[in-house]
Amino acid sequence: MSDGRVVLITGTSTGFGRLAVPLYLERGWTVIATMRDAAGRGKKIFSSSDPRLHILELDVERPEDWAAAARYIEDRLGGRLDVLVNNAGYGLMGALEDQTLEQLRKQFEVNFFGLAGLTRTLLPLLRRNRGRILNVSSIVGLVSTPFFSAYNATKHAVEGFTESLYYELKPLGVQVGLIEPGAFRTDFATRSLTVADGAKDPRSPYAFVNEPFIKMIGKQTASADPMIVARKMVKLSECSRVPLRTLAGTDAHLMATLRRILPHGVRVGLMAFGLEQILKRIRKRLASPATADQRTV
Ligand SMILES: NC(=O)c1ccc[n+]([C@@H]2O[C@H](COP(=O)([O-])OP(=O)(O)OC[C@H]3O[C@@H](n4cnc5c(N)ncnc54)[C@H](OP(=O)(O)O)[C@@H]3O)[C@@H](O)[C@H]2O)c1
Repeated sequence: MSDGRVVLITGTSTGFGRLAVPLYLERGWTVIATMRDAAGRGKKIFSSSDPRLHILELDVERPEDWAAAARYIEDRLGGRLDVLVNNAGYGLMGALEDQTLEQLRKQFEVNFFGLAGLTRTLLPLLRRNRGRILNVSSIVGLVSTPFFSAYNATKHAVEGFTESLYYELKPLGVQVGLIEPGAFRTDFATRSLTVADGAKDPRSPYAFVNEPFIKMIGKQTASADPMIVARKMVKLSECSRVPLRTLAGTDAHLMATLRRILPHGVRVGLMAFGLEQILKRIRKRLASPATADQRTV
């Protein structure tokens, strides 16, 4: 159990972040649950009147919000911060040519610069408390999938960044770790997916993939329980030694194992072959008269 320890989590309006908040409270933690539009949505999301729950406005894209969070901790919690969970993020879907440069930059602003900037701002507090940093990456931070190049790149960046900090902050008593989930049933694949602008244009050279992809949006395809990840956040906050990497989900474990045991060339060949088969099936389905009829309904 916590002895009044304090955790700050980003992106607590839904998904892993939202589920982790009550778990930390149950374990006696003081929780700074941050989100965009905290004033409008905060009280609806968390009805708890627990004085240890602090709902704070924090858009990870806004440096002024990072500074305000640090001030809040100094003023209201006497500078106590034991764990920072960098969880906020979203996915940009679509081929590179279909993405605007603005979309590409925004993906990095939220998933990487938001995480790095907030961490940098809160590090003096974390150092003072010999705290820890948990960065939510993804299995795609280790292996890349097509049509998510920008999202994959942000998670690869988070991996490299976190590994550097793991070594850099160790002598200062700050422990750092990654959580690498596979696909989980959150809002990620529905509300939090942004489609590349050009993918909505039927003349896109990638239209054959875009059409079924866009149809997929809004449909929940993952079935894994997101509580698994929320529980890992709490466990990693309380364990004595934070490992650099913590996988979550059967698919993540499988992909990480294949990555470890298969020679690089074989792994890349398998991915390319698998994609080819999927694309073949998509093309066939789109060409079939039944599908064409459905599309005109
Ligand atoms: N679910 C999965 O399958 C999966 C797999 C691997 C990794 N992940 C990672 O897990 C993390 C959490 O995702 P989730 O699955 O819990 O999805 P989610 O339910 O969509 O939650 C994402 C959270 O991030 C917040 N967010 C987005 N942009 C933000 C910004 N600029 N500032 C502050 N908050 C922002 C969202 O807030 P709003 O409500 O304001 O949009 C939401 O609270 C993400 O980093 C994601 O990349 C998820």
